[in-house]
Amino acid sequence: MNFDNRAKEWDKLDRRVILAKNVAKAIYESIPFDNNMKIVDMGAGTGLLLRELLPYTGKAIAIDTSAKMLKELRSKVPKDANIDTIQSDIIDITLNDIDLIVSSMTMHHIKDLEILFKKLYSFLKKGGYIAIADLMPEDGSFHSHGNEGVYHFGFEKERLIDICKNAGFCDIDYKKVHTVKKLSGEYGIFLLTAKKY
Ligand SMILES: C[S@@+](CC[C@H](N)C(=O)[O-])C[C@H]1O[C@@H](n2cnc3c(N)ncnc32)[C@H](O)[C@@H]1O
Repeated sequence: MNFDNRAKEWDKLDRRVILAKNVAKAIYESIPFDNNMKIVDMGAGTGLLLRELLPYTGKAIAIDTSAKMLKELRSKVPKDANIDTIQSDIIDITLNDIDLIVSSMTMHHIKDLEILFKKLYSFLKKGGYIAIADLMPEDGSFHSHGNEGVYHFGFEKERLIDICKNAGFCDIDYKKVHTVKKLSGEYGIFLLTAKKY
């Protein structure tokens, strides 16, 4: 799936903006924030989610494979925002001492979840959290442009919890936080949170 081609138009769909706002609210209500926190957004895109959380954090790192999505993000954050952008596959980078990793609607584009969760665990400091939102199990109809680059038709709660536990996470929670309504159907969105001790 080529996100560079979609970057300019990405924020024009109200349902994407509303989804990001609801995910941000659910994350804010689930994680103890403080404004020294260093947070990472995995697959930040144009920053729909990160822009909601920026006022409550100290430093943000936006990671995305798409240069054009990150260019949009940079044009939309305040000039004095403490934010770095990294154009990379999340699997190919190394980070340390992160307090919170957030993500919305990116994980279904990442093939190997076992590798991903071990990687995320390694990024966090002790006491750090992940807060990841994505599709609940769906029938493959969510992506109306086709399923190229889509490795998962949503995620089963039990499977994700197992993968999370195997990576070392504790205090794992999976809950429904939003519903996306499209002509093709209604799609549940979950928020998975977990802690590194
Ligand atoms: C569906 S968009 C979601 C963007 C944003 N989180 C939002 O909610 O609007 C998925 C984003 O993840 C990025 N992405 C896909 N696979 C990735 C990977 N392996 N590592 C980093 N970013 C990735 C894409 O370039 C795209 O910007």
